[in-house]
Amino acid sequence: MIQERSFQDYEIWSHDLTKIYEKRNKAFEAVSKINLNIKPGIHGFLGPNGAGKTTTLNMLVGALSITKGEAKIRGKDAGSIEARRLIGYLPQDPILYKRKTAEQYLVYMGRLGGLNKHDAREKAQELLHYFNLLNERNKKLKKFSGGMKQKVALAGAIIHNPKLLILDEPTTNLDPVGRSAIIEKIKKLSKTMSVFISSHILSEIEEICDSITILDQGKIILTDSLANIKKMYIGNVFVLHTNMNSTIIEKLKVKDFILNAWMDDVSGKIHIIAKDSERLQELIKEILLDPKVKIFTFDQPELSLQQIFMRLIS
Ligand SMILES: Nc1ncnc2c1ncn2[C@@H]1O[C@H](COP(=O)(O)OP(=O)(O)O)[C@@H](O)[C@H]1O
Ligand SMILES: [Mg+2]
Repeated sequence: MIQERSFQDYEIWSHDLTKIYEKRNKAFEAVSKINLNIKPGIHGFLGPNGAGKTTTLNMLVGALSITKGEAKIRGKDAGSIEARRLIGYLPQDPILYKRKTAEQYLVYMGRLGGLNKHDAREKAQELLHYFNLLNERNKKLKKFSGGMKQKVALAGAIIHNPKLLILDEPTTNLDPVGRSAIIEKIKKLSKTMSVFISSHILSEIEEICDSITILDQGKIILTDSLANIKKMYIGNVFVLHTNMNSTIIEKLKVKDFILNAWMDDVSGKIHIIAKDSERLQELIKEILLDPKVKIFTFDQPELSLQQIFMRLIS
């Protein structure tokens, strides 16, 4: 018998998780009824600026109250002490104590995370080594570059040995070198803990994610393994060029087997993401029955996941 999975089986689970902000007596729903079923591994949490990523993460880690719905971390209520202990959280703008040295900061974070003095010191040394910061350990954080600060912040987020690492746009403010250093560390860390990482750029985290969830205007528009998404979308993108592009695009847009159809600004051709490519081909044949319509080209191009992502959120 197949047993249904319950919330205990997930790293992160939520049911109708909702956040309403009250702004000058006006209610604004920043996150709307989102359901997460996050399995072990690296999960990408994607969405444009303002989609509700930070709001969601803050509810999951217990930094923000949940308006409606519920969320669990490995079966424990989000926000509870048990759940918090399981999480290492790197916020979007981590607060680093600028006057502390890297080593002092890490020992401090270790103590906050419940380690005794001896263990905190030992773990700080281990992490300084792991992040190649041993030579910098006595330098004050205010003197650190952006990339180095982010390394220290990441080290501080994992010093208490969490089971789940939650990262809010950890690469956004870094230069390319800093970015790849952080991505490489996250990849390594994921061998010993699950990772939930938010970003507004899919191509940046695509290579490390097993699965992704795309959030737009507070709602989930897609959640699946990367392998499935590639299978589903990469092979289902078509480019059509006719003598009546604008008329035809309107016909395509309303079909339920078409996820999106748009005019590409550069080529002036119609791009289509189909849910069912056979039905699309039948429709194209039908369109061709009209003697006024001439099809110049009909191709199946390779689109990157980033290009598809941009189309899904627009
Ligand atoms: N404290 C707040 N009060 C009111 N609105 C907020 C607050 N924080 C965020 N928002 C709004 O909620 C939406 C989602 O924001 P956020 O979660 O920061 O998105 P993201 O992290 O995806 O960029 C945005 O429209 C933002 O302006
Ligand atoms: Mg954010």
